[in-house]
Amino acid sequence: MSEKPLRSQAWFGRQDKMGFYYRSFLKNRGFPQDQFEGKPVIGICNTWSELNPCNSHFRTIAEHVRYGVLEAGGFPLEFPVSSLGEVTMRPTAMLYRNLAAMDVEEAIRAHPLDGVVLLMGCDKTTPALIMGAASADLPTIGVSGGPQLRGMYRGQAIGSGTNIISMSEQLRAGEITLAEFHEAEAAMNRSSGHCMTMGTASTMASLVEALGVGLPENAAIPAVDARRNELARMAGRRIVQMVREDLVLSKILVREAFENAIRTLGAIGGSTNAVVHLLAIARRIGVDLTLDDFDRLGRGVHCLVDLMPSGRFLMEDFYYAGGLPVVLRTLGEQGLLHRDAPTVNGKPIWENVRGAECWNREVITTWEAPFKPEAGMAILRGNLAPDGAVIKPSAAAPELMRHTGRAVVFESIEALHALKDDEALDIDASCIMVLKNCGPKGYPGMAEVGNMPIPKVLLRQGVRDMIRISDARMSGTAYGTVVLHVAPEAAAGGPLALVRNGDRITLDVAARSLHLHVDDAELAARRAAWVPPAPAATRGYVKMYVDHVQQANEGADLDFLVGRSGSPVPRDNH
Ligand code: FES
Ligand code: MG
Repeated sequence: MSEKPLRSQAWFGRQDKMGFYYRSFLKNRGFPQDQFEGKPVIGICNTWSELNPCNSHFRTIAEHVRYGVLEAGGFPLEFPVSSLGEVTMRPTAMLYRNLAAMDVEEAIRAHPLDGVVLLMGCDKTTPALIMGAASADLPTIGVSGGPQLRGMYRGQAIGSGTNIISMSEQLRAGEITLAEFHEAEAAMNRSSGHCMTMGTASTMASLVEALGVGLPENAAIPAVDARRNELARMAGRRIVQMVREDLVLSKILVREAFENAIRTLGAIGGSTNAVVHLLAIARRIGVDLTLDDFDRLGRGVHCLVDLMPSGRFLMEDFYYAGGLPVVLRTLGEQGLLHRDAPTVNGKPIWENVRGAECWNREVITTWEAPFKPEAGMAILRGNLAPDGAVIKPSAAAPELMRHTGRAVVFESIEALHALKDDEALDIDASCIMVLKNCGPKGYPGMAEVGNMPIPKVLLRQGVRDMIRISDARMSGTAYGTVVLHVAPEAAAGGPLALVRNGDRITLDVAARSLHLHVDDAELAARRAAWVPPAPAATRGYVKMYVDHVQQANEGADLDFLVGRSGSPVPRDNH
């Protein structure tokens, strides 16, 4: 047990004017004096919001964390931070990930806290909270809000986001009624929780568990399953103990933890978005993680879960089948898990998962008969992406893995939308669609638009996939032969900005290369003539974001937020 004095005592342990101040106002809720005399103060960092439907049940989860903290002899204090609703925020929730991370970091440091429980669910809330907490570096446990129950529409399981496009087409064509359309909306989202496919939210909840920041089973328990509340309560109990052990986040988020997370990402067939988020988290905590680590560590990892968007099942099924511990156990048995990596429950990860049992081999496959054999991310480089680009080969068409084609260029997302249905668009299935100005600075916020719609003229010919290249991200529920996260981005003057209609591009995934067949002299001439797009804003947060955001290969954090400052006690406020 640590002898270290509690940080909160720098507020509450004072017997002077300031001690009066710090205690007295809190007593307006009826806290007795003994609450202030050496109980670990646990912040419950809540992203509850009605504007973020995925996190709208978080008041309940917070209550269960609170019970646990009280049971363990701690002093729980819940506080709000910005919440980021993936489906409600425009132009993209990603624009605000770093803002929320700042909110979290500063709130933790400014307040009399000894430890924190992070409540997170919808896509960007998870990285935002872990990034902020990493820079403050107190003892920290992550509690995910859990996935929704599987969508059910007319007897069929439907996943978050699936069928939206096909149903909107059916509506347009008059094949279904507006009432049926509305019925499907309600059928897809029928309980509290975040998207229940293996999209970004479920990917990040799984990585919370793989990183050791969450308790075992964190990833998959449905939001409305009573065991989600139990997990929250156990996190509340455990965080009090972690304060006593001085088990700060930087003791959990070690390099081995990130390597485990990267392999887990492959084994769950997770979202490409996790690449950007893991890089950002690592750079906050001071672990030297690079894009190449994803390529290297992901090689040879099989995808073991048959979940939508690429498979058949949903997170609820994943939980009933045994959940992430089964996947981690399998990785461990293959020598693909750092078994000694620490976790928040105080045990090495292997001890948590070694006895995990699988109850449904259709949902979680064996290593010997995997759902998909090659599951990692491929990191591409070349004169079109000097600082890297990402493709998920398991979501791409095998016949396009080595391909040279003619570029059809869209200067902006608006240009793409204006031209995609144009009958006169000069394009065929062997072409390569190139979308510019959708990166961190460009959109702004690096929106999920990289899985460009196939132009109408090609759809009619039956084309369902083709190579698409951009500096954007794509939704964790999307797939296709899509090259994403091209760095540097077009709006920052990356070579992507210089591509013109008719240029030839070669994608060679096996060689990890992305090459633009334009010589250096011509590129230099184009660069001299290049006019950067007007900045997205001249004031406010968006200006700060555009001025300071880093490129995707560095995690798209703000440059001055990289690293950590810990949690020194600030000056008195009066
Ligand atoms: Fe929130 Fe998908 S919209 S997790
Ligand atoms: Mg999204």
